[in-house]
Amino acid sequence: MPILEIKNAELSIDNKKILKGLSLNVNEGETHAIMGPNGSGKSTLSYMLAGRDGYELDNGNITFDNIDLTPLSPDERSNLGLFLAFQYPVELPGVSSTNFLREIFNSRKKYLGENELSHLDFIKHLRKVAENLSIKDEMLKRYVNFGFSGGEKKRFEILQMALLNPKISVLDETDSGLDVDALKIVSEGVNNLKDKKNAVIVITHYQRLLDYIKPDIVHIMSDGKIIKSGDADLALYVEKNGYSEILNEKS
Ligand SMILES: Nc1ncnc2c1ncn2[C@@H]1O[C@H](COP(=O)(O)OP(=O)(O)O)[C@@H](O)[C@H]1O
Ligand SMILES: [Mg+2]
Repeated sequence: MPILEIKNAELSIDNKKILKGLSLNVNEGETHAIMGPNGSGKSTLSYMLAGRDGYELDNGNITFDNIDLTPLSPDERSNLGLFLAFQYPVELPGVSSTNFLREIFNSRKKYLGENELSHLDFIKHLRKVAENLSIKDEMLKRYVNFGFSGGEKKRFEILQMALLNPKISVLDETDSGLDVDALKIVSEGVNNLKDKKNAVIVITHYQRLLDYIKPDIVHIMSDGKIIKSGDADLALYVEKNGYSEILNEKS
């Protein structure tokens, strides 16, 4: 069953075309990796999926669970089960991490028609999930991402993901700024959440993360579109040979 279908997506920022006809299909149970040189539009793709202001399509369409995603707000997309972990997570000074997490957790529960958790029950649930990701209570008392280290921000994103149990998660350069231990914790978090009904897209510059999160399908993105797709071996090839040969094949 398809979860996400992007057809011929074109998008401009400040009248400059950034996405130039990008198509991507993701089915239930699949893990996709998107690789590609700096500036190829990977993060733009994740902002577009999130529904960020200014990232509306010029052309093309996106469906999620057969619903047209384009008119939906970021909150509606999140409630539907689309989760985005950004390359540069935003800091929310003044917003306590625990309250923020309870808010997004209960919002999705409500949308799904399931019971919201009381404050106390939520705290219990949160502690359990956080512990699995080696996140300390102390961190949950701080403001969202405020003064978090790079590794803490990434773990906090995986914590959000674990609480929301999304249908599809898009992780943009989750490996950057992580040492090997943190990389393992984050990858295990993702692998534990993966099942036959959901899907993951990892956007990464390096093969390193893909040693831990094994992709079924690897895509190479360049100049605003996907120019080659293959199995996990394609990532190993890129690691060994760089992008140049693949890019040259196309020109
Ligand atoms: N806010 C912006 N304003 C103008 N150009 C942008 C903006 N954000 C991204 N770009 C341009 O869009 C292209 C793709 O960027 P990005 O999606 O960040 O690539 P990647 O994540 O693959 O490195 C780059 O050429 C970048 O300079
Ligand atoms: Mg990027």
